[in-house]
Amino acid sequence: MSQSQFVSKCTVDALAVAAQSLISGHLVAFPTETVYGLGANATDRGAVAKIYAAKARPTDHPLIVHILSMQAMGDWAEDIPAYAIALARDFWPGPMTLVLKRSPLAQDFITGGQDSVAVRVPDHVVALALLEAFSAVGGKGVVAPSANRFGHVSPTTAQAVCDELSSYLSVDDQILDGGPCAVGVESTIIDCTGSSPKILRPGAITAQMITESTGLDVVTPSDSNDAGKENIRVSGSLEAHYAPAAKVVLDQAPQVGQGFIAMATTTTPDGVIRLASPNKDVEFAQTLYASLRKADELGLSHVVIEQPTGSGIAVAIRDRLMRAANGR
Ligand code: TXA
Ligand code: MG
Repeated sequence: MSQSQFVSKCTVDALAVAAQSLISGHLVAFPTETVYGLGANATDRGAVAKIYAAKARPTDHPLIVHILSMQAMGDWAEDIPAYAIALARDFWPGPMTLVLKRSPLAQDFITGGQDSVAVRVPDHVVALALLEAFSAVGGKGVVAPSANRFGHVSPTTAQAVCDELSSYLSVDDQILDGGPCAVGVESTIIDCTGSSPKILRPGAITAQMITESTGLDVVTPSDSNDAGKENIRVSGSLEAHYAPAAKVVLDQAPQVGQGFIAMATTTTPDGVIRLASPNKDVEFAQTLYASLRKADELGLSHVVIEQPTGSGIAVAIRDRLMRAANGR
């Protein structure tokens, strides 16, 4: 099968076919506002096993259940604290994942054996239409990790999903094309199993936004002395992750023949290959993963990145860059 045969445009018919395909135990990659996800029926052990195989992901790394609305939180979680409800109200649909005490529906094969479950309502018309069609045929939730091989850069276009995974998909699997992702980095993951929210992975929903929504202080990865070391099973918090084949070097002068990513105000030295020149931090996030992929397409040995210094989504960008620089 050629790569392009996996990709479908998102017509109403295609979404109905995709929902049926999920119910039948096949994989459907789909766009979200953050990155593309590789979806499977969250209650189908065999289908979920296909995700782990396609990604070559260790099976004790838990998955995020994508749901249609906050009403479905109660299907997957129990003892939901009031502050988690406030967050869901304020930021869903949106780039935020809540980790909650799991219900019996959330089985070991999606939680990696942990007593918690991660849930999120994505903010993308295609993702929501797919979840709606899936719900119409009896589906409860779709688990979807980023649609990349384990440890690699997350895909932000359908073509990038194809490049990553087409060799590992079966004829009945498919990729829905919904254009490039608007946010470009993965959702903020918030542990809501304690008395106050704790950020496990920074993203577009920031600590300040969480405090404004809940009135509570937020524990951040730096407060807890690196969430990555603390909980190795949060794969997005491993020290080496999100990495291209090219070596990522931070905040150094780029050399001739090396790739370079920096804000538009920084000039490109002679002989250096400029991969992106974002004007704002949100644009930096939008273009980052595609730029890292471009570096690999060009066969570059090094990509030098001048990190954005701001707060907001720049925190998430620096988090991913630090891990990308730690290599694979
Ligand atoms: O933006 C996103 O979150 C994307 C899109 C597709 O929704 N998904 C995504 O999934 O980034 P993934 O699997 O690549 O990263 C999810 C992270 C992993 O690091 C996983 O370990 C963590 O969520 N996670 C899932 N369940 C968890 C749990 N119960 N406790 C702690 N961490 C959990
Ligand atoms: Mg991932």
